[in-house]
Amino acid sequence: MSGAPYDLVLLPGDGTGPEVVRQGRRLLETLAEGDSAPWRIAEHPGGAQYYQAHGREWTEEAETAARQADAILLGAVGWPGVSLPNGEIAGASIVLGLRRQLDLFANVRPCRLYPGVLHRISGEYKQVWSPKNVDMVIIRENTEGLYTPAHGRLTRGEGTEVAIDTRVITRKGAERVIRYAFELARRRSRGAPEDGKKRVTCVDKSNVLEGCRFFRETFDRVATEYPEIERDYAYVDAFTQWVVRNPEHYDVVVSTNMMGDIITDLASVLQGGMGFAAGGNIGTEHGMFEPVHGSAPKYAGKDQVNPFATFFAVEMMLRWLGERHGDARMTRQADRLERALGRVIAAGSARTYDQGGPISTTGAGDAVLTAVRGEAA
Ligand code: IPM
Ligand code: MN
Repeated sequence: MSGAPYDLVLLPGDGTGPEVVRQGRRLLETLAEGDSAPWRIAEHPGGAQYYQAHGREWTEEAETAARQADAILLGAVGWPGVSLPNGEIAGASIVLGLRRQLDLFANVRPCRLYPGVLHRISGEYKQVWSPKNVDMVIIRENTEGLYTPAHGRLTRGEGTEVAIDTRVITRKGAERVIRYAFELARRRSRGAPEDGKKRVTCVDKSNVLEGCRFFRETFDRVATEYPEIERDYAYVDAFTQWVVRNPEHYDVVVSTNMMGDIITDLASVLQGGMGFAAGGNIGTEHGMFEPVHGSAPKYAGKDQVNPFATFFAVEMMLRWLGERHGDARMTRQADRLERALGRVIAAGSARTYDQGGPISTTGAGDAVLTAVRGEAA
């Protein structure tokens, strides 16, 4: 376990990834001003566009740096029409590969609505949910489930006869991500907005799927170690309506890999859209942080996308480093950044296109840098 200066590895990736990571880097550099060298930053290219140009997804050097990093900030990978010979998205070794290889078993996706954020519903920008009512963290299992690389096709002659994706739920995989959820619920001071209760909701399809029955049994077993935390259950289909109708009920939510992928995109609408959704891929030894939005090819190179998801990913990264190393300086930096982000969002002066605003990615970055400088470390 090393301490400061932390080695931060930035993997900008494809499309708009480099644009938002550029702002993330400026933010890190600004936070470090006046502090005694809290981190070293290294940046490495990789992803689908790199694959298209070089015939490999990233360099060996980048891979080694990522494995040895104290924390990774990933932009996004993927580009239309570029895939690996096996059909997977080019860049898979970065996002899915690192999740598995570094054993980043918990994909932690906070869904919190900040005052000043607008919702885009039916093409209009308005305040639909209240910031008081949206404050949950969704935790997605990140190393197995339907993402287990045990899949394939049976082809006879010219046509494919059958395609199979194997969903694997192991005791270890389920137990550790569920325990992560309960530990997080224990640490979160506010509980659910509805009633202030600490609550963990297990989202599954245990009325149909065996793996989900096993996941829920494991949930119940782990829950007995946390009698002060309320257990809650939702079938995934029902959850999609409840979370929209009654988001204040939720505190911590835990689910399997593919279901977690889907419900976090849905829940992002409650927090103002993918432009605000950040995630941490967290294991016992490593952490990789990312905006959830993906490479958004349509907007690439236009300096238009919302960099706040990346800023929240940076905040999560600093908070995680602070906790992992017992380093109060990192926690103070995370708090400082959170205050600055909250202030800029509340002022409504850094709204990018997805919020109906005229501000560019760089413009939003400038506003945040100014706010950070105004917040004492
Ligand atoms: C995510 C993304 C990835 C996933 C893709 C890019 C493979 O959608 O992080 O949610 O499916 O996990
Ligand atoms: Mn996704």
